[in-house]
Amino acid sequence: MCGIVGYIGRKEAAPVLLEGLKKLEYRGYDSAGIAVIANKKTTVIKTKGRIADLEKKFEGKIPKGNLGIGHTRWATHGAPSDANSHPHASNSGKIAVVHNGIIENYLDLKKMLIEKGYKFASETDTEVIAHLAEMYDDGDLVNTLIKVVKDLRGSFAIGLIHEDHPDEFVAVRKDSPLIVGVGEKENFIASDIPAILEYTRRIYLLNDLEIVHLTAEKVEILDLNKKKIEKNIFEVEWDVEAAEKNGYEHFMLKEIHEQPKAVQNTVTPRIVNNDIVFDKFSIDESSLKEISKIFVVACGTAYHAGMVGKYLIENFARIPVEVDIASEFRYRNPIVDKNTLVIIVSQSGETADTLAALRESKKKGAKILAIVNVVGSSIAREADDVIYTWAGPEIAVASTKAYTTQLATMYLLAIKFGLLTKNLPTSRARNLIKELREIPAKIDSLIGSLKEIETMARRHHCEKDIFYLGRGLDYMVALEGSLKLKEISYIHSEAYAAGELKHGTIALIEHGTVVFALATQDELFEKMLSNIKEVKARGATVIAIAKEGNEKIKEVADEVFYIPNITDALTSILTVIPLQMFAYYCAVDKGCDVDKPRNLAKSVTVE
Ligand code: G6P
Repeated sequence: MCGIVGYIGRKEAAPVLLEGLKKLEYRGYDSAGIAVIANKKTTVIKTKGRIADLEKKFEGKIPKGNLGIGHTRWATHGAPSDANSHPHASNSGKIAVVHNGIIENYLDLKKMLIEKGYKFASETDTEVIAHLAEMYDDGDLVNTLIKVVKDLRGSFAIGLIHEDHPDEFVAVRKDSPLIVGVGEKENFIASDIPAILEYTRRIYLLNDLEIVHLTAEKVEILDLNKKKIEKNIFEVEWDVEAAEKNGYEHFMLKEIHEQPKAVQNTVTPRIVNNDIVFDKFSIDESSLKEISKIFVVACGTAYHAGMVGKYLIENFARIPVEVDIASEFRYRNPIVDKNTLVIIVSQSGETADTLAALRESKKKGAKILAIVNVVGSSIAREADDVIYTWAGPEIAVASTKAYTTQLATMYLLAIKFGLLTKNLPTSRARNLIKELREIPAKIDSLIGSLKEIETMARRHHCEKDIFYLGRGLDYMVALEGSLKLKEISYIHSEAYAAGELKHGTIALIEHGTVVFALATQDELFEKMLSNIKEVKARGATVIAIAKEGNEKIKEVADEVFYIPNITDALTSILTVIPLQMFAYYCAVDKGCDVDKPRNLAKSVTVE
């Protein structure tokens, strides 16, 4: 988490840093700061709060200088406060650093530095970096950073400036994202592309422990022995508008509306003559025969997409699949070997636990397939095979289009595996593929038909608890719908497998409790109907989601939202849309900060 930006060039650095930080606020937003060098003097301005609060702190006097670094924080070590905000300065005030990640041995380093007389002004782990840099300062910034890095354990993306070096600065990454932007007589570092896209599309993607030395004219990338590393420039294909709100009130609403396009971009190019074809994909019939088990490993929303993946892959390809939360998987010594395929799902491609799970599985000999949205991210680079979800940049913290494109990818993958194992009859695959092609148009018409959701949210945004029930694939979507509601509207919510409710949780249902009943699975419909009756009998208000044409549901539910007709296996991508919109409008009605919900961050690069 946390976002960092750095600039060197002809422009005033501060406005570039502030604009960049605004694009990175999704990574953390409890404090912000910048450090700029002008006339061989480092000025640090920082504050608890958001970038807007930082701007207020300048009172119209933006610090001058053509070199600077900036930071937006998601607190880990030390509460959000002015003192704990980055940049952190060395005791002489000459050096300033910004950092994203966690320095795991900071307490030992801090003790050593205090013994040497360094004074600490914050509770952060980051501050040790500034003091170490001062301790190792030998007049050569690259040397200094290399010495610092050799002392650090943990994860870090670091930008460092020094007032004795007004024409250069340095940066490095390990297990935390950092990119370099190459401009015309100006160069940049940033945690993510949108921060610098206004200035350049030419990017260097960094590997761990690569040291970056930047001047206005040139970027050098070196290893820890100062040996130059040659890299190809990566050209960003999407443009600034993709990362702007374009008239929508919130990024989340824009991203909900972008789903037809995003799913289309993910699906259409992969369908070739009734077969599924992926670009960087080496799994074929014979290698799939070697696979005795599949794990899908992910966090948050991506984990929910993984659950749908399990259901489909097991059904179409008859290969056993286990789905696991990355932070659990990596510590439980899972049974993984060379006959295991580990599917890693991640929007950002940088989530710390997910990346660690990938590395752990690789060490054990497993083959790694990544489903990732961010091109060139760590997970994409370290996996054996990658399927990109072409959702475009997702800015709102609550994931919507990344989720539906992950679902679309799971559909494609499950069909592909079904065909390769010959467990999915070609005629069925053909029908599924035909339906897949129609999904973007169906999402589009569904979004258009859901005006009522806004009114309904107005009625329910003050509820204390809302329950989500479903069976089979509907249960997996219930989990995602419930997560959306919790994260952005702060309404307590639980998702339950409908058949499991009576084993305890039904005790919570009382008169007026709102229950979303997802009833899109034809095969399970009768069972679901019974479960709806069970909660109705205890006074629940039931809002159902069912397939178009299902009249029976009207007899039991208080309200019904219909999704376009589609085969049971592919409903999830549609069922989730009303739930996303319900969560969105509840959050708006409650006056919540929809795109930046409290305590959360989009890219979780801490463990
Ligand atoms: C955070 C985000 C979630 C996301 C999860 C996993 O918690 O708020 O929206 O699902 O991280 O992120 P990833 O980038 O790995 O998909």
